[in-house]
Amino acid sequence: MSELRNLRVALLGSGSVGSQVARLLLEHSEELSARIGAKLELAGIAVRNLDAKRDVELPQELYTTDAERLILGADIVVEVMGGIEPARTLILTALQQGSDVITANKALLAAHGEELQAAADRVGAQLSYEAAVAGAIPIIRPLLNSLAGDNIKRAMGIVNGSTNYILDSMDRFGQTTEEAMQIASDLGYLEADPTLDVEGYDAAQKAAILARIAFHTELPADAVYREGITKITAEDIATAKQNGQTIKLLAVVERVEREDGSEGVSARVYPALISREHPLAAVHGGKNAIFVEAESAGELMFYGAGAGGVETASAVLGDLVSAARRHVAGGPGVSFKSYANLPVLTIGEILTAYQLRLTVADQPGVLQQIAGVFAENNVSLATVQQSPSKDTADAATLVIGTYRAREAELKATLERIAALDAVLSVDSTLRVAEVSA
Ligand code: HSE
Repeated sequence: MSELRNLRVALLGSGSVGSQVARLLLEHSEELSARIGAKLELAGIAVRNLDAKRDVELPQELYTTDAERLILGADIVVEVMGGIEPARTLILTALQQGSDVITANKALLAAHGEELQAAADRVGAQLSYEAAVAGAIPIIRPLLNSLAGDNIKRAMGIVNGSTNYILDSMDRFGQTTEEAMQIASDLGYLEADPTLDVEGYDAAQKAAILARIAFHTELPADAVYREGITKITAEDIATAKQNGQTIKLLAVVERVEREDGSEGVSARVYPALISREHPLAAVHGGKNAIFVEAESAGELMFYGAGAGGVETASAVLGDLVSAARRHVAGGPGVSFKSYANLPVLTIGEILTAYQLRLTVADQPGVLQQIAGVFAENNVSLATVQQSPSKDTADAATLVIGTYRAREAELKATLERIAALDAVLSVDSTLRVAEVSA
């Protein structure tokens, strides 16, 4: 049998994902060679500190602090160091010399995805990033390849595990927001800067990547409308539960037809009420899922671990095998084209449905007054529930659900409702997740 050719792999980063990628590469070397038709040779692992304590024991001679030197001549570069620099410069250098690049860096892709793809295209290299969105879950490749002959209408995802853990604990165990956040933090689920999770920045980066590939449209992360979960209260969760709903932080990317018939793209992240019967409501703990609606395929759901070292390493290894097979077969890397470049719509242009919880004076005519404001603004009411207020004397709690209306009109209506004398407080305003009829 002829000797298999060696492919040099340079690994940048040895955190929880990087150390597992290295371990799997070494432990499964023979099986990977059989799948690829070439040997993957781990040329080295670039780290900041040679003496740092590692999660996984690996041969010390693999470590180097000289990332620039390590990537020179590498066939494949795997970047799992995170952050914008030096990751961006190292990836651009690797692509310029023709190396294929695999990255799990959602922040970098959301901010510089177009630049990196252009650098890959110039030399016919492959840029892959399955691990950047929803960890172990295959979602990038299904959107880029399996569904390449279809048209995506919408993808609605739980793409941040720590906020799902928090909301799910509140729902299942009756914890307050503070208690659930503290437990998530103690378990190490939150990013070093927890605002990235709880204010929805992490989910917005993933939404930008999803929207870009689903709709062939460049869309920076700061064009994603974003609201986090910090305003969600135990009362919101209890009300949702009473109504057969739960609350999830959703990343929604959608192709939208405007009033004039032209098309645009919307990308948004916010906590939303969703029926407990919807498959996304069954996504518990720190798990992730993306519910995709495509023109021909219909509804699809991708579910699994959205984080974790070895789980995310699985997605990196998948990209690695795929890139290595291309080296064996020859030919340029598969490019991604943002040919459609649809306009990105503002949140005001989107149709949404709301559910409000109000404390109102318990007097004759109040309900009629509130209903009148909705009617004047052409917003149709779907449900109204009234119960005596638990906290305020001579007051009632009203839970009002609207039908879908343009978000800008709904916001204007809510402002007018809040200003009514009979409305003592607006206790919550939550969007209701869009589900197909
Ligand atoms: N902070 C992220 C999460 C990690 O909670 O899902 C994975 O990107």
